[in-house]
Amino acid sequence: MLGERDAKTFCEFFAGIGLVHEALRRSGWQCVYANDIDPKKRAMYEGNYGAAASDHYHLGDVWAAEEVLARIPGRPFLATASFPCTDMSLAGKRAGLKGEQSGALFGFLQVLERLEERRPRMVLLENVPGFLTSHGGADFATAIDELAALGYWLDSFVIDAQWFVPQSRPRLFLVGYQEDLVGRPLIVKRADGVDSLASPWHEAVLRADWIRPSRLRTAMESIEPATGWATVDCDNPAARRSALNNYIDLDGHEWWNAKENSRHFDMMFDRHRRQIEMLRDDRGPAVALTGFRRVREGKQRLEVRFDGLAGCLRTPRGGSAKQVVIVIDRGEVRMRWMTPREYARLQGAGDYVLPENTIQGLFGFGDAVCVPVIEWIDRRVLTPVFEAWAAERSPAADLRVAAKQPMTSVR
Ligand SMILES: C[S@@+](CC[C@H](N)C(=O)[O-])C[C@H]1O[C@@H](n2cnc3c(N)ncnc32)[C@H](O)[C@@H]1O
Repeated sequence: MLGERDAKTFCEFFAGIGLVHEALRRSGWQCVYANDIDPKKRAMYEGNYGAAASDHYHLGDVWAAEEVLARIPGRPFLATASFPCTDMSLAGKRAGLKGEQSGALFGFLQVLERLEERRPRMVLLENVPGFLTSHGGADFATAIDELAALGYWLDSFVIDAQWFVPQSRPRLFLVGYQEDLVGRPLIVKRADGVDSLASPWHEAVLRADWIRPSRLRTAMESIEPATGWATVDCDNPAARRSALNNYIDLDGHEWWNAKENSRHFDMMFDRHRRQIEMLRDDRGPAVALTGFRRVREGKQRLEVRFDGLAGCLRTPRGGSAKQVVIVIDRGEVRMRWMTPREYARLQGAGDYVLPENTIQGLFGFGDAVCVPVIEWIDRRVLTPVFEAWAAERSPAADLRVAAKQPMTSVR
């Protein structure tokens, strides 16, 4: 039996509505501390997990280090941080880590530093792919240097939610491992500059080529953390998603009236309108599509997707961030806004208890992680690393070690 100090525990920073928790609890991780600054998200977390389960949720600024440190019990094995992406995107004017929002990463790093001997053995950071290119790659390199200075060996990958659910949502991940985890299943890159393309690290990185686009591989080749790079030979995800129709309520709901429908029909590009008319005139079974309203060349447009995916869910700041559902069903075209329940399903959390307020629900899910993505990372990377470490510390391992020791003779 493993002692409490060896438990599969984690802290969820920038916890929001707790979808990292949702993914990790499925394999037995226990959340011992969660932190976010947003009371509405905490209310959603509590509504879903219950008041008792959310006792560990600390509503407060990550920069309030004293308070954060005092509330983290013992030494959690893992800390996750899906820090704000606002400054990594064009909408945030790409202030990057200098921005007030995305700069909260430094608040998290400060907590890691001050945890000292209680520092988690493993960290998982999440952000948009713009993190890789922000300030010409300098922000990504800074994050790596800072983590390496805290003793973490590093790995990185980009995973798109569309390999698991019908939602386009690529996200960049950084994983860090403390020195005492280095060993199987981690494969390290040789730090002496003679690592060749045939080395086990390169082979593992190249095998998982979907999750390491060339731009990321180039960054990983050019940045040399003071610790080093370490990876798990996890291969590519198997890409098994089901159809958008299964995530959208095809009937029911308040569909727009004829006037609102035709207003949105008029907003479409001609080629999109023609495709919808063809589907309508086929009079076939229901087909669900999604679209976003955007201003293009000074004109409001409804851009429809025909690739079987929903666009990346976002927080509903203004009409352009809300997603439109279009159902073409036996000669009829129906339209409406996407609902919080559909958002929840597209984030892989279809049973999540929703708040009464629709906008609050859309906000929570628009900012959240996609559960099956985190589950995949957990199954392929986090849990194998934890289990290898725990196995080394089990009584059986002690017995194995003892068996190899020469017996002291009893006189
Ligand atoms: C990308 S969201 C993370 C969502 C989360 N992973 C989920 O599944 O719901 C970033 C979160 O960081 C929180 N945040 C922003 N600045 C913060 C700060 N200074 N301290 C603590 N939390 C902060 C926001 O309220 C937001 O919920």
